[in-house]
Amino acid sequence: MPGGRTLRAIEAYTRRLLRHVQPVIVANRAPLTLQRADPFRGTEERLVRGAGGLVTAMGSLAVATDAVWVAAARTDEDRILAGRAGKDGTVRLTTEDDTSYRVAFVDADPGAYDLYYSVFSNPLLWFIQHYLWDLSREPIVDATTERAWRDGYQHVNRLFAERVVEEGRRAEVPLLVLVQDYQLYCVPQMVRAALPRVRLQQFVHIPWPTPQYWKILPRRIRDGITLGILGNDIIGFQTSRDVRNFLLTCEENLGLAVDHRERTVFHEGRAIWVRSYPISIDVGEFEALLEHPAVLAEEERIAAWRPDHLILRVDRTDLSKNVVRGFIAYERMLEAHPELHERVQFWALLQESRQDIDDYRAYLGSIVGVCARINRRFGRRGWMPIRLEIENNFHKAVAAYKSFDVLLVNPIYDGMNLVAKEGILCNRRNGVLVLSENAGSHEELGELAVTVNPFDVDETAEALYLSLRMDESERIARGERIRETVRANDITRWITSQLQDLRELIA
Ligand code: G6P
Repeated sequence: MPGGRTLRAIEAYTRRLLRHVQPVIVANRAPLTLQRADPFRGTEERLVRGAGGLVTAMGSLAVATDAVWVAAARTDEDRILAGRAGKDGTVRLTTEDDTSYRVAFVDADPGAYDLYYSVFSNPLLWFIQHYLWDLSREPIVDATTERAWRDGYQHVNRLFAERVVEEGRRAEVPLLVLVQDYQLYCVPQMVRAALPRVRLQQFVHIPWPTPQYWKILPRRIRDGITLGILGNDIIGFQTSRDVRNFLLTCEENLGLAVDHRERTVFHEGRAIWVRSYPISIDVGEFEALLEHPAVLAEEERIAAWRPDHLILRVDRTDLSKNVVRGFIAYERMLEAHPELHERVQFWALLQESRQDIDDYRAYLGSIVGVCARINRRFGRRGWMPIRLEIENNFHKAVAAYKSFDVLLVNPIYDGMNLVAKEGILCNRRNGVLVLSENAGSHEELGELAVTVNPFDVDETAEALYLSLRMDESERIARGERIRETVRANDITRWITSQLQDLRELIA
């Protein structure tokens, strides 16, 4: 949960700004999920933080400003929470450590939600925005796509917009609506049409591809997406590359006037600012966690089994994360360096993701299959080359961060990738970061990491080996500079630089 220092900084920052507007956060996921009581295990009902970097990042702002967080009721557990809402349609959710959020759930019917999430947002948009399609074969765009757009994506976006408008009608000052991510591109245009005095900002947590790649989608749909997001006053991206691609998309695909130097798009008599705000982590929270009893206990367990050299990856089982090529690169390293056998282990600590989508289930299958093959090929009694754990255990992840010698972050494309920042901040072994040039974090950390092309498994194998062999003084120097960068640009900075721009806009 957000650390006290971060909260205080954001509270101080928002006090002046928020006299004039009322903030509302809009995101597909709620900040917390309900874990039901389990009488067989003797566990009580608990509220735990939702998955993904978005929730972590926006959590502090939500707590500091007590903003209403509008989210989809995605699961039966969410619907239980939604059922506890008061007269104003919001429910106050408080965690064990007394962090409190106000959530308004949007309850779409499951069929529409499935079209929105499992047919349109994740397979289609996520794949476009991470360049995941093998275009000679896929996607096949047909009436199903059109239906998923109309009856799924647009429909659910409208439900979100209606819920925001309801807040706006009740509020005494105009709303400041902070829309999050690719699931909700149409919300800003819809809200603006109903609430002319509203201020809207959207942050896109994932990459924005080139205008040409958007042309996978039929014109009506791709233009609908860009016009939807242009309902905002400010659009935030992770990197300058995303900003450039967005400006080009407006220019080339929609023929709009764009000022590249001022990073502004002109549309319907408004000037829309397009900016990059590299997302980050709550440094104070992570530093406090390092000595948490649960982390220390996990660390002891790791110390009991770890080999001399530990390579780590921590990821959701997302296709964009490139887990399989990471294993193949490690296999090549084992082929080339038999002297490392029995002395090294690759620990993949993975969190299951989006198993309602066929491609994701198949990908998890490949991860397990390739891992088993490599373990069969090289493994010996007492040595398993890859340790694969599929589990969502935050304390274990922090203990793993403290313990690695090399952290592999090799996504195909990634908006930012917070693991790169969290991992090096927490590490206590002068560990080295091997980082894909296509991760957003490469813009900030690339010079201090060992850079890899994520498709090139030989280069990645060599990078893993060189990192294991790197001179101690160089490992220390690189690690220190990464930590300095992360400390200087932490989550407070990410939020306050957005608020600074909003303050200019509102003033
Ligand atoms: C990324 C996305 C978020 C998303 C998260 C988890 O961080 O940017 O929008 O919430 O992944 O994915 P899920 O589909 O499980 O919400």
